[in-house]
Amino acid sequence: MIETQELTRRYDKAAVVDAVSLQLPEQAFTAIIGANGAGKSTFLAMVSRLMPASAGRAFVDGLDVATTSGDVLARRLAILRQDSAVTARVTVRDLVAFGRYPHSRGRLTAEDRAQIEDALDFLELAPLADRFLDEISGGQRQRAFVAMVLAQDTDHLLLDEPLNNLDMRHAAGMMKLLRRAVDERGRTVVAVLHDINFASCYADHIVAMRDGRVIAEGPPEVIVTPSVLEAVYGIAMEVVSVRGYRSVHYYR
Ligand SMILES: Nc1ncnc2c1ncn2[C@@H]1O[C@H](COP(=O)(O)OP(=O)(O)OP(=O)(O)O)[C@@H](O)[C@H]1O
Ligand SMILES: [Mg+2]
Repeated sequence: MIETQELTRRYDKAAVVDAVSLQLPEQAFTAIIGANGAGKSTFLAMVSRLMPASAGRAFVDGLDVATTSGDVLARRLAILRQDSAVTARVTVRDLVAFGRYPHSRGRLTAEDRAQIEDALDFLELAPLADRFLDEISGGQRQRAFVAMVLAQDTDHLLLDEPLNNLDMRHAAGMMKLLRRAVDERGRTVVAVLHDINFASCYADHIVAMRDGRVIAEGPPEVIVTPSVLEAVYGIAMEVVSVRGYRSVHYYR
């Protein structure tokens, strides 16, 4: 279970994440939405211990992330960062193998190797596995980083904009894959998404942020409405129901 209590990050005096208290549903898919600068990445970075909080606390399975060692946390929670640093002379397979580090400490067992090949297959990367990261496309690189996160084999997966750079087919494939991680493997997935329609079709729960605060949360039928989306993004939108899913449209 991921829980935060008044989690806050300040720069100078301004809070970019402002006393956020959340309990994210277990074994479910939560989407975090919000405009650029709303505080989504900062929130995930604090929950995953990449960034210290200015105030408040975050817990993963009851462990306070501020006082839990990195390797203990890394066996429970994996994060895809919004901007992953690309180390060019690393192959796709080696990158995915880094995901096994919390388990293997660098000595890969047969089990580790199986997990790596599994993750490569899941993301359709097997044919590219021996290429260096600067020899593949942006979308392929994005999938390689997600494969690394999956190979870590944790109960909690945090993904900051997993659909970045993906074409329509791979974006749909990514959402299906994350959904399967929840439904078939009982994982808890938390993903920052800018595509509300994907969030609407695939997420169980949506958290809407604005100016560092959570302004609404609930299932898609509660969040994907013109009034909530206008409050989140500050523009007028229309919502229609297609095949039982709400989908949002913007017209000029
Ligand atoms: N080092 C910093 N100093 C001051 N302000 C910062 C710093 N880093 C981030 N911010 C500010 O914190 C706010 C939240 O940033 P954050 O990256 O969490 O937004 P976001 O919701 O992830 O946006 P995006 O959709 O663009 O990724 C932004 O207004 C940003 O300018
Ligand atoms: Mg961000």
